[in-house]
Amino acid sequence: MSYLTRYPTTFKSTLGLQYPIIQGPFGGGASTVALTAAVSNSGGLGSYGAAYLSPNDISKTIGELRNAVTDGRPFSVNLWVPIEHDDVKNLAALKAGGKEVYEKHADRLKKYYKKVGRDAPPFPDQIGHNFEDQVQAALEANPPVLSFIMGVPPPHVIAEAKRRNIYTMATATTVAEALALEAAGIDAIVASGVEAAGHRGTFLPFNPAETPNPDDTTFTLVPRIRAAVKKSIPVIAAGGVSTPEAIFAALTLGADAVQIGTAFVVAQESGAAPIHKQSILEKSDVARTTVLTRAFSGRQARGIPNAITKEFYSVENELPGYPVQNYLTLPFRKVAGRTDDKDLLVLWCGQSGTLVSNNGSAKDILQSLVDGVDSVVARMKL
Ligand SMILES: Cc1cc2nc3c(=O)[nH]c(=O)nc-3n(C[C@H](O)[C@H](O)[C@H](O)COP(=O)(O)O)c2cc1C
Repeated sequence: MSYLTRYPTTFKSTLGLQYPIIQGPFGGGASTVALTAAVSNSGGLGSYGAAYLSPNDISKTIGELRNAVTDGRPFSVNLWVPIEHDDVKNLAALKAGGKEVYEKHADRLKKYYKKVGRDAPPFPDQIGHNFEDQVQAALEANPPVLSFIMGVPPPHVIAEAKRRNIYTMATATTVAEALALEAAGIDAIVASGVEAAGHRGTFLPFNPAETPNPDDTTFTLVPRIRAAVKKSIPVIAAGGVSTPEAIFAALTLGADAVQIGTAFVVAQESGAAPIHKQSILEKSDVARTTVLTRAFSGRQARGIPNAITKEFYSVENELPGYPVQNYLTLPFRKVAGRTDDKDLLVLWCGQSGTLVSNNGSAKDILQSLVDGVDSVVARMKL
């Protein structure tokens, strides 16, 4: 029996998992029902990123997941909580600034619109779907696990999840955020270090003029959150966990499970664009690294640099915040996804991306991580 099957954690036993491994949710195109189901059916916890789905599509997707995941195994669905001092404020500022300010922001991107033969999107009334409608659709569809990022879900959402026996998880990037999630009654906390791919989940206000954006690493965040919250709350390590060695290290640091993103983006079942997968599999750390960028969405996210990140790196503070910049870049990102244009596509990737080499099926990736931990244990003569 594998070490990870034997490894006793409350998180595993509460959810009936064979392995303490979560495939992280991917908002946007990389999440597929096939990927989530393959991980859940192979003994881990598959997650589906539903942040950009309409309420109807959320209900439909949860129905499809329920059919694809066998034997009553759990799966997770993920939503983004709106941040009052960030997205809500940025949209209000855009409306107050009017069309003139909007056109100035759109103008910066005109050569990219031209490249794909599109116009800038029209001045928006609303951007994205209403969170309350999304979360109601998710609650009604009753997934086994509902996970959140970018904030503390409102009390009525947590109460309804508890009433329905839906297990809740949410992401913290600092100890203070973990304590806020604990106080709200979240069941498990994802401790997401700065190494992680995709958007930073930081949600408590900070003033960039006075203090830098929180940049706690997984290695330091996991044990500090473990020490700060009640023993009964599972802590999940996310960010930089791409290898069996990192899984073992995260468990040693006090994590009850790991959440792995980048290593599953390259899976056959993932919906990521072929050029995105290929860029992650590029082996040379000298040839490439990853950067934190606001250029694509207006919110800090980690990915592989390309034409867009490079052009705006030194003037990022002039760009509008999330979701305005996200809305502005969508027309060319959509086309780039179809044409595999590396220069215009988001290439989210964690700091350990160059350690990823298995681009087989999700089941195979999961199994090789599980077997790899056994090799680590044997090597350490435990
Ligand atoms: C393409 C992509 C999209 C992501 N979208 C989300 C999301 O919508 N919600 C979320 O909680 N995490 C999201 N993440 C973060 C992952 O779920 C996971 O926590 C992270 O990738 C872990 O770090 P690693 O990539 O170093 O393994 C995303 C990651 C990637 C690569």
